[in-house]
Amino acid sequence: MGRKSNKKEHSTEKPWGGRFSEKTATSVEAFTASIHFDARLYRHDIAGSMAHARMLAKKGLISQKECDRILGGLSEIQQEIDEDRFVFRPELEDIHMNIEKALVEKIGAAGEKLHTARSRNDQVALDIRLYLRQEAQRIIGLITELQKVFVALSRKYLGVAMPGYTHLQRAQPVLVSHHLLAYFEMFGRDKERLEDCLKRINVMPLGSAALAGTGLPIDRDFVARELGFPAITANSMDTVGDRDFAVEFVAACALIQIHLSRLAEELVLWSSEEFSFVRLADSYCTGSSIMPQKKNPDIPELIRGKSGRVVGHLVSLLTLLKGLPLTYNRDLQEDKEAIFDTVDTISQCLAIATEMLSHMQFMEDRLPEAVKGGYMTATDLADYLVLKNIPFRSAHAIVGKTVAYAIKKGKDLSELSLAELKKFSQVIEEDVFIILSVKGSIDGRISKGGTASAIVNEAIEKAEHKLSKA
Ligand code: ARG
Repeated sequence: MGRKSNKKEHSTEKPWGGRFSEKTATSVEAFTASIHFDARLYRHDIAGSMAHARMLAKKGLISQKECDRILGGLSEIQQEIDEDRFVFRPELEDIHMNIEKALVEKIGAAGEKLHTARSRNDQVALDIRLYLRQEAQRIIGLITELQKVFVALSRKYLGVAMPGYTHLQRAQPVLVSHHLLAYFEMFGRDKERLEDCLKRINVMPLGSAALAGTGLPIDRDFVARELGFPAITANSMDTVGDRDFAVEFVAACALIQIHLSRLAEELVLWSSEEFSFVRLADSYCTGSSIMPQKKNPDIPELIRGKSGRVVGHLVSLLTLLKGLPLTYNRDLQEDKEAIFDTVDTISQCLAIATEMLSHMQFMEDRLPEAVKGGYMTATDLADYLVLKNIPFRSAHAIVGKTVAYAIKKGKDLSELSLAELKKFSQVIEEDVFIILSVKGSIDGRISKGGTASAIVNEAIEKAEHKLSKA
């Protein structure tokens, strides 16, 4: 039964068809084809082929006339694809063979010379590197836009206090701006990771050919210069089997998505009735089909939800490489959907997060109330005692008792009288009330990287300066 269905065949002749006496089964064509997703690489594939053709002409492997015909044909093909006039043929497997075949049909014999000293193995490596170089740079740009919103919000709300949390329990009062700038830093590291990974992406693989290099007189450095690569890969076998740069890229993106997810989680909490720290704009929320009163934070929820995909893609890629012997194996074709969906997901999430945040408001009337409870200035009182020469551990115990007393009285620390406070330590004086206030507590935290207004103001200026150069 299997035999019969294997006889089903297709008409287009394969560029590699010479040694085959039977035509490929249509089921095999469908199974091996990648054109429905790798068509996305067409511009990079064409750019790579053009550089390769120029090199072949320079080295005398094709004539200048043949080169010109190849370049002309490739430009036409690019335009056809741009304008949606190109017919992709699944039986030609992938973007490389679709373009090559179209070129041969267009310009004849000269087109057949394009694949001289080249394999799809080094060709696809080049295409992915060109694609990721472009996308990594674009994503860095998207992150910069997001960072700008964090900094603008920090400036706008400078001076507004909110509860800072550990274990999601009220810990110490902080400035809203300080909290926002934490994200500025986080995403700054993400950009650095992408920049770093770009160093490994930006190495030119072409000329490795199938796996062992070529005996034809090529000039790899010329191709690298043509395509703006600062270096060429060192080992042809490593080159055609290497997707480390893609793993690094997706890993960097997975962490970006995790950062977005943490932010999203905070927005879901903050926009709830229980917190009411922020108001998300109506235009960035959705309603319920049954509960008329509802306004749901679906955007942050979806951002949070999409982290599973990106983390999943990282695991896919690592698993893909796990058992592969050197060098190229067809398994590697499976890298593309993971890479593409990572790029799409991260781009969409970064862009929508930027938009949503730039329309978000902090509830300035509600936050002072939120920051009052929770005995959040207890550490300040302990530090106050330390400055009066009480060892920190003893100070901690004294304040613990003071807090227990205040809880019993139903008062905040700042609402206790000096006499009441003195019962716990004689060294306490009138000036204690400055540090027991939210503003006093915050502005006292002048350590480098702390939440004091003066320090945060400097941090905003630094961030603005950094962004002005980005
Ligand atoms: N479509 C293939 C891929 O994405 C291109 C390389 C195919 N090479 C081969 N020898 N079959 O990996």
